[in-house]
Amino acid sequence: MHAKRIRITDLKLKKQRGEKITMLTAYDAMMAGIFDQSGIDALLVGDSVGMVMLGHNSTLPVTLDDMVHHTAAVSRGSARALVIADMPFMTYQVSVAEAVRSAGRLLQEGAAAAVKIEGGRSVVDVVRRLVEIGIPVMGHLGVLPQSVHQMGGYSQQGTDSKQAETMIADAIVLAEAGAFAIVLESIPGELAHVITERVNIPTIGIGAGPDCDGQVLVSSDMLGLGGSVAPPFATQYVNIGDVVKSATRAYIEDVESGRYPAHIRPTQITIAK
Ligand code: KIV
Repeated sequence: MHAKRIRITDLKLKKQRGEKITMLTAYDAMMAGIFDQSGIDALLVGDSVGMVMLGHNSTLPVTLDDMVHHTAAVSRGSARALVIADMPFMTYQVSVAEAVRSAGRLLQEGAAAAVKIEGGRSVVDVVRRLVEIGIPVMGHLGVLPQSVHQMGGYSQQGTDSKQAETMIADAIVLAEAGAFAIVLESIPGELAHVITERVNIPTIGIGAGPDCDGQVLVSSDMLGLGGSVAPPFATQYVNIGDVVKSATRAYIEDVESGRYPAHIRPTQITIAK
């Protein structure tokens, strides 16, 4: 018997009940299984996969094939969490038709239940069309990593009143277009608070203070696994990188000194001389 998957409607209910939503990024079946068994609500197959797992220095080189591949692994490895796949750069900006085809692959081949796209009013036609044909969409405002060149880096957004007002308006437009939730990345906590009050869909913060309806972290930052430079707001709950390094050093020493393998089982076969 399969565990019942969390649905987008469950996240909306959590907001209504004032219960916090938990989300982590996941990129493979093994970690997805561990997060899933720990009770996480949602797994985001972020295009951060490019920086965390694939060695790129931004999310821009990530392709739709990369995302389908990693999303399918996360879907196979999890049984309960809602799986949301990032739509990578240039798979939804050119036309609504292309966005539909790209999102379709993430659901059909990746078995995601929803997609996430970056931007506000500039992507509202895409959000509306995807929702219209039954593909749930999560919005993403604040720091938009796919626009790193336009933003001039990854520094906090929404810091002056003009930017803040634009972001509030964008959040309202996304909610009206049918987005089921919005990620707020690296914005002042007061602004996240206002947006969270103004929209009736959950806000999921990352570096956006405590007042969002839920929180997301890039899992490698939370676990101390390296792979990308952790932003200052990302709490590291454990340093698995150090644990793996000391286990690896112990293994190397054991092999080099002959301690491993410790016992060679007596052979059952007779070797003809
Ligand atoms: O790609 C990603 O991991 C994300 C999170 C930072 C929200 O979009």
